[in-house]
Amino acid sequence: MCGIIGYVGERNVVDVLLDGMRRMEYRGYDSAGMALLSGDRFDVIREVGKVAELEKLVHDRGLTGCLGIGHTRWATHGGVTVENAHPHSDESGRFVLVHNGIIENFLDLKEELENRGDHFSSQTDTEVIVHCLARLYDGDMVHALVELQKKLSGSFALVILRKDDPDGFFCVRRGSPLVLGLGDGENFCASDVPPLLPYTREVVYLDEGDIGEVTRKGVRLWDDKGCSKEPTLQEVDWDVSMADKEGYSHFMLKEINEQGAVVRNTLKGRLAEGRVDLSEELQWSQELVASWRNLHIVACGTSYYASLVAERALSKWTDLDVRVDIASEYRYRTVRTDEKTLAVFVSQSGETADTIAAQRLARGLGAHCLAVTNVRGSTLSREVHDTLLLKAGPEIGVAATKTFMGQMTALYLLALYLGRLRGGISAAEEIRLAEELSRLPYKVETVIARENSLQGLAERYVSCRDFLYLGRGYSFPVALEGALKLKEISYLHAEGYAAGEMKHGPIALLDDKVPVITVIPRDSLYEKTLSNILEAKARRSPIIAIGTDGDSLLETYADHVVTVPWTDEEFTPFLSVVPLQLFAYHVAKLRRCDIDRPRNLAKSVTVE
Ligand code: AGP
Repeated sequence: MCGIIGYVGERNVVDVLLDGMRRMEYRGYDSAGMALLSGDRFDVIREVGKVAELEKLVHDRGLTGCLGIGHTRWATHGGVTVENAHPHSDESGRFVLVHNGIIENFLDLKEELENRGDHFSSQTDTEVIVHCLARLYDGDMVHALVELQKKLSGSFALVILRKDDPDGFFCVRRGSPLVLGLGDGENFCASDVPPLLPYTREVVYLDEGDIGEVTRKGVRLWDDKGCSKEPTLQEVDWDVSMADKEGYSHFMLKEINEQGAVVRNTLKGRLAEGRVDLSEELQWSQELVASWRNLHIVACGTSYYASLVAERALSKWTDLDVRVDIASEYRYRTVRTDEKTLAVFVSQSGETADTIAAQRLARGLGAHCLAVTNVRGSTLSREVHDTLLLKAGPEIGVAATKTFMGQMTALYLLALYLGRLRGGISAAEEIRLAEELSRLPYKVETVIARENSLQGLAERYVSCRDFLYLGRGYSFPVALEGALKLKEISYLHAEGYAAGEMKHGPIALLDDKVPVITVIPRDSLYEKTLSNILEAKARRSPIIAIGTDGDSLLETYADHVVTVPWTDEEFTPFLSVVPLQLFAYHVAKLRRCDIDRPRNLAKSVTVE
């Protein structure tokens, strides 16, 4: 939440900052701001609303320069006002900084500073940071930042300009991500990689507590004790086109369309002679694998729903005791986690605060921790024992689509691999399932090509206010994910429910104005779900069924039938989720919602 950026070089810093802020606007879009340093003069511009609002102001003022910092905000402390927008400065105007994160002890610090005579002009925790910094600074920036870290509790990534330092900026990270981008005669820093992609793919991920100095000539790093350290250079395998809309009207639609490729890429290099082989990435000894009894999967939001899908496959193909938890719950109740536990943390961003905290808890209790994430170098991936990367490319739409697909693919690979290592599945069955997994990209693409029928359905039901999504078995998490997509981007009320549970309560909601969207592939639970359709139909609800090609029976039960190609029961979520994503997309489009940047949301939820 919140995106921060810094630049120094020959380009017009205003263009670099605005472009970078737009590229990470998914991190927050309540307000935006930037500060430029020219000579010894700061220009600070802040505006409520999206980056486009700030852009108008900046262009009206005709600002240019070579050194500056920027911020796009998701409000935590203090309302959405210009005064609370970043950057913030100290009273003397010597420092200006932008912040991503939360300072938990800011009220105590503020009181202390006020007692010493400081005045504040915002309600933010960030203004407290810059006041503290000004008081700690004695001519040595590194020392001041070491001391500042000791004073602050919470999470933060900061980019800081100093009035008497026209050569560059400082930055520091603890708990919130920060990556440096290295160019030729120019250097960058940002919360995420996408803002860097138009200029460089050479990056340095800061470690916890790292302090960086970024000038035109290069970067220098110190650890949290102020000891100098060598930057570790990495090359990112994303390119700038991956973070562009490429002709699509929205990133979400582009990302839905990329889903076949995501499955293909995530499988690539991980199947050998028809069998799953993750041994290069997961260097697990036989003893380690044999020592596990429990498998815990922990995640939030869409990642949690992908985990629920995988739970069913993992329980079937392995002998492990599998349980899936929402990260914010896992942390606060008694869970038997120990050395016999493989704990898997699923997070697109790898920056979700609750998931990271749950990982720390599990690791502290002795679990072997694995991250399933889309972002190499993310906080989560740096803290776990092992990482399994989705190969989905950057996901810019705030509503996750292609990474849900990537997560299911990665988790299914894990399930088959564990099944093989622990003897829970025969070689022949593994080969057969892996073959079907390899066919999925084509089947996913077939479903995407049927987009028109979903557009038609969206037109038909766009005026409804409440929707019920039902599914059983593997289709239950799909129903949850379908409902989440509609809620997130169209602001309509949608509930996902286990089809068999409907009669235990939600059935009271049904009437002819509440469509029931039922995920009903031709699987072992088909007849049971069919009965639930009948129950809803008897209450006059319009029925939309997501079924299997050739299922003519469904036509007689449902008002509308959308079908997807046949696949094994275990793989049905890969196909049935796609119509639900497209339905949500078209409803939101007809309602003229801001599809890629839904209100109140941010893509990475870095607060607890
Ligand atoms: C998905 O559409 C949501 N934006 C949200 O639920 C998301 O999945 C959740 O915040 C988890 O994020 P993560 O995968 O980056 O941890």
